[in-house]
Amino acid sequence: MGTVFIFVIFLLDNMKKWIKIERIPGVLASSYEKATQLAIDSYYRQVAEEVVSVFQKGRLLDLGTGPGKLPVEMVKCAPGIQIVGVDLSRHLIRMARIWASKAGLSKHIVLEVANAANLRFNYDSFDMVISTGMLHSLRNPTWVLKEIYRVLKKGGDAWIYDPAKIIAYIDKSLWRASLTRRERFFLWIFGLLGLRKPIAVYSRDQVIPFIEAAGFKLYTVHEGDGEIKIKMRK
Ligand SMILES: C[S@@+](CC[C@H](N)C(=O)[O-])C[C@H]1O[C@@H](n2cnc3c(N)ncnc32)[C@H](O)[C@@H]1O
Repeated sequence: MGTVFIFVIFLLDNMKKWIKIERIPGVLASSYEKATQLAIDSYYRQVAEEVVSVFQKGRLLDLGTGPGKLPVEMVKCAPGIQIVGVDLSRHLIRMARIWASKAGLSKHIVLEVANAANLRFNYDSFDMVISTGMLHSLRNPTWVLKEIYRVLKKGGDAWIYDPAKIIAYIDKSLWRASLTRRERFFLWIFGLLGLRKPIAVYSRDQVIPFIEAAGFKLYTVHEGDGEIKIKMRK
C-alpha cells in the first residue's frame, strides 16, 4: 500500500512537468474567490483606476476574469464602460455573476464561460482588452494574443498584467481563517501533489515573440516587482 502511494506521488510529480492546468480547478475556486474579496480595495481598485485613467467609455473585454472583481471595480470608477468577462471556469463565472448582480451592475457586465484562445466575437469588436493573472497559465500564449489582436478595434489598447498580485496585498491569516475545512483540505491536497506551484512569471524577452507573432507593432513591456505589464496598441 505504502509503495503504491509513493509510486502515485512519483508519477504525479513527473506528470506535473508537462501538465499545465489553465483554469482554476473547481474545488479551489471558492478559496481563490475569498482571497480576491480581501484585495478589492487594494489590488483591484488600483488596476481599475489605471484602466479608467485612459479608458472611460466603450466596450471592454476582460480575459480570464475569474470571480469578476476587476470588472465591478472598473464600472464603479467609470459607468460608461460595458464589460464582457470570460473565463474557462464555470464555477468562477457563476461567482462573478453573483458579484456583479450584488453590485447592481449586471446590465454593465456580461460574463460567460469561454476559452481566450478561441473567442466567439467578431473582428474589431472591442475598444479595449484587459487580462490580469492569466498569462502564466496559458498553454499557448500566442494563440490568445492573436485572438486579442483579432477582436480589438484599430487604435484600441490591450493590457496584460501577470500575475494578479493579490497575495502581496491580502492579510493571509485573515484569508486562511475564512476558509472552510473542505477548502483547506483541497488546498492541502493540491500542495501535496505539487500542483500549487509558485507562479513562473514570463520575462520581457520571453513575451516579445508572442506579442510580435500576434501582429502587435506598438507595445511596451514593463517588468519588476515580480510582475510583468504588457501594454499593446493595434
Ligand atoms: C489567477 S486567475 C485571475 C482571475 C482574475 N483576472 C483576477 O485578477 O482575479 C486566472 C484566471 O484565468 C482563467 N483562465 C486560464 N486560462 C484561460 C483561458 N485559456 N481562457 C479563459 N480563461 C482562462 C482561469 O480560470 C482563472 O480564473
